[in-house]
Amino acid sequence: MAIQVVILAAGQGKRMYSTIPKVLHPLAGKPLLQHVLQTSATISSKPPIVIYGHQGEQIQAAVTEKVKWVEQKEQLGTGHALLQALPHIDAADDVLVLYGDVPLIQVDTLKQFIATTPDKAIGILSANLDNPYGYGRIIRGAKQQVTKIVEEKDASVDECAITEVNSGIYYIPANYLKKYLPTLKPANAQGEYYLTDIIHLAVNDNVTVLAILAPSAEIQGVNDRLQLITLERLYQTQRAQLFLKQGVMIADPNRFDVRGDIHFGQDVFIDVNVVFEGQNTIGNHCVIEQNCLIRNAIVHDGAHIKANSVIEEAEVGTNSVIGPFARLRPGTQLANDVHIGNFVEIKKSHINTGSKVNHLSYIGDSTVGKRVNVGAGTITCNYDGANKHQTIIEDDVHIGSDTQLVAPVRVGKSATIAAGSTVTKDVPADGLTLTHRLEQRSQKWKRPEKVK
Ligand code: UD1
Ligand code: CA
Repeated sequence: MAIQVVILAAGQGKRMYSTIPKVLHPLAGKPLLQHVLQTSATISSKPPIVIYGHQGEQIQAAVTEKVKWVEQKEQLGTGHALLQALPHIDAADDVLVLYGDVPLIQVDTLKQFIATTPDKAIGILSANLDNPYGYGRIIRGAKQQVTKIVEEKDASVDECAITEVNSGIYYIPANYLKKYLPTLKPANAQGEYYLTDIIHLAVNDNVTVLAILAPSAEIQGVNDRLQLITLERLYQTQRAQLFLKQGVMIADPNRFDVRGDIHFGQDVFIDVNVVFEGQNTIGNHCVIEQNCLIRNAIVHDGAHIKANSVIEEAEVGTNSVIGPFARLRPGTQLANDVHIGNFVEIKKSHINTGSKVNHLSYIGDSTVGKRVNVGAGTITCNYDGANKHQTIIEDDVHIGSDTQLVAPVRVGKSATIAAGSTVTKDVPADGLTLTHRLEQRSQKWKRPEKVK
């Protein structure tokens, strides 16, 4: 006997008003379905069966895991959806039904649910909700035993008052599905084949049915964008709280977003509104100030990222200081003790230990040596309109403000370039290099006056 996971994901998602299939909308940077598939993989090594309907190609293209795809051509209800899976289910298996649009269900909750459901019994994962509106209600008998599930649209006033709801997640021996699913009838308010109807059919056959409570936050589904962002905040806040418990100092868990995977070192401080995307590694003793975007980056120990900086596919060396308002673009590699200041853009460049680019500069396609000082407003002119060219600046160079380095160009070790230079030829080591410039003159001058 094994566990066969079946994920229902054929619903159209009308209330999203989107051209993207609902289960592909991202939560924390990953499609909703991806969250459920990852959970599924920790429950069972058997590939899950995913029931899809609309935009199947798009959904299949977005998933890398091994999945048994089964199409439900018409969406005639949850019972009909599971019926499509039936030919692919081994009669000896126990089936765990999950939903592609219920992404927050936790592995531990499911494991406990499975362990608590007795052999040959049916388990329903339920939850108590303050506002049960829209969910199916768990109806219990005189001895608190489950007798059936009633959908909101079919429920009496008394039944509507019940706050214990059906999560839609079940653990069922496959032979009951083979027995009951083909007998379902769409005789209800919505004219659908309800999976929930198998509950009273089983109860009538004296099958044990247990409803087992789960934390209400975990069973919430996504039907519209409001619910999606509600779950997103819930997920992010929970993750932030977990990081806090693990020693990461997060200024406000409500203003913290990790869209992807991240590793934090010790004694890291993350101020408000920092967004991490993709794969990030943040070393020990790092500080990241307000409003930064960090995407696919490696930030080494002791680095300090000041407010409003954007770092993308870049590496920041130990004890380096970035920003405020700096932009590190893909291919940027900074060694230790590098300072990148405000309104500086670095692209596809290697900057070595102890170098500083502190104000209003663009460094692209460059290699910068050690202890170089790049003055304010320095620009590497790396693009001739057709091709990109390299700039090489050797160790201990001092570049005066407002210098243009027209690539390809090399600046020799310990050279000094005077402010305002336009460098078009290689610069020799040591010495001072000046380029032709207008002489400075002063003359009498009366400023124009504003006409009244
Ligand atoms: C269903 C349950 C309800 C439960 C609720 C929990 C039934 C009849 N009702 O109601 O008791 O409280 O979920 O969220 O089962 N789907 C298909 N094919 C279909 C119809 C649905 O794959 O033909 C999938 C959807 O993509 C979705 C899931 O099944 O992932 C639930 O469908 P939905 O229409 O949202 O069911 P609810 O009316 O919310
Ligand atoms: Ca639903």
